[in-house]
Amino acid sequence: MGVVGCGRISHSHAKAAAPIPEKVRFVSCCDIREDGARAWAERYGCDSYYTDYTEMIRGEQLDAVLLATWPNQHREQIERCLDAGVRSILCEKALALTGTHALEIEKMVQAHRAFLMEGLMYRHHPAIAFMDEVLASGQLGPVDSIRADFSAFDAESDEPDDDNRNWRQRKECGGGVPYDFACYCVNACNHVADGLPKRVYCHGDISDRYGTINRMHGLIEYDGAVGVIESSKKADHSERLEIVGAHGRLVVPISWTIRNDIDIVVQRSTGWARYDRSSHVIANTNTKQRQLENFAAVIRCGAHPVVPLWESVIGAITMEALVDSLERRESVAVRIPSDLRALHQESKQ
Ligand SMILES: NC(=O)c1ccc[n+]([C@@H]2O[C@H](COP(=O)([O-])OP(=O)(O)OC[C@H]3O[C@@H](n4cnc5c(N)ncnc54)[C@H](O)[C@@H]3O)[C@@H](O)[C@H]2O)c1
Repeated sequence: MGVVGCGRISHSHAKAAAPIPEKVRFVSCCDIREDGARAWAERYGCDSYYTDYTEMIRGEQLDAVLLATWPNQHREQIERCLDAGVRSILCEKALALTGTHALEIEKMVQAHRAFLMEGLMYRHHPAIAFMDEVLASGQLGPVDSIRADFSAFDAESDEPDDDNRNWRQRKECGGGVPYDFACYCVNACNHVADGLPKRVYCHGDISDRYGTINRMHGLIEYDGAVGVIESSKKADHSERLEIVGAHGRLVVPISWTIRNDIDIVVQRSTGWARYDRSSHVIANTNTKQRQLENFAAVIRCGAHPVVPLWESVIGAITMEALVDSLERRESVAVRIPSDLRALHQESKQ
């Protein structure tokens, strides 16, 4: 693989690939910061490094590319990779800043008969597989609500005129909670709900300092269920996911960046205000490694991607509606094209 963007998250991918060289090896890397690209190549044993990714994808015989760049860059970089003949792309979240861009990406990937997976790594963790099993067993009953939080306090101390500040504080790069944090919450709600998102309402705030959305409190309406998302840079850290069913609840206390053993609690009422609780410890694992293994297995032997592209596109459409609702202060319909509806329907059968 070649990697575009040798910043923070790229290191986790390189470390995840190190124990599985027979499956994945990063042979080339690129960053607009030449010193960053050179250091990355030396540290992880790449054969070459570049400062222009278009030269890398034309010059190297790559099986796949990892895009570890800012969300505003993904659409154009995907198009250029596909046009240069790259057939498999692992694209960091968030896939795109708008539903329109995500749909364009889907069409391009289809037209090139290529494969693209969004790097929503939490979905590869066995804790989420356990959650899926509990849901499929029916023990929680029909899902009534999904409550997903992703918050972490940001002191907003960097100067707004510092062009080198973190992309998370730069609106033009896709900074702010929607594409940094809340995209996980939306993915989880859409993944767990039986139906498709129909309508959203979202309250939130814009940072005075950076113009980024720094708080989102949203409702996603499904047939017979609701998703409640909470994502704030003005709140203490939280990554809680709770599934509430007619006959029980399941809580994943840390969901998106699990780094230790995790204790999932399943609770069922046995009478009025009486509960039966069971606790399930899921051992820690390297989620990024599992993601790379799934990505490689799709390319090599046609395995199913844990996060199919159509899900990411529906996520981007839902997010666009939430942001639109936040800005207009009114509820907004989520319009899912018929081909994506059909793929969603197929997945539920
Ligand atoms: N899955 C996760 O756990 C996770 C965690 C953090 C970040 N991310 C995602 O990863 C992406 C990158 O985030 P980050 O925190 O690593 O950002 P970062 O700013 O640390 O790294 C991005 C790198 O891309 C480089 N870059 C910018 N434009 C480029 C171009 N045209 N060509 C080549 N390189 C270019 C920058 O110089 C920088 O080194 C974001 O989409 C983010 O949402 C995912």
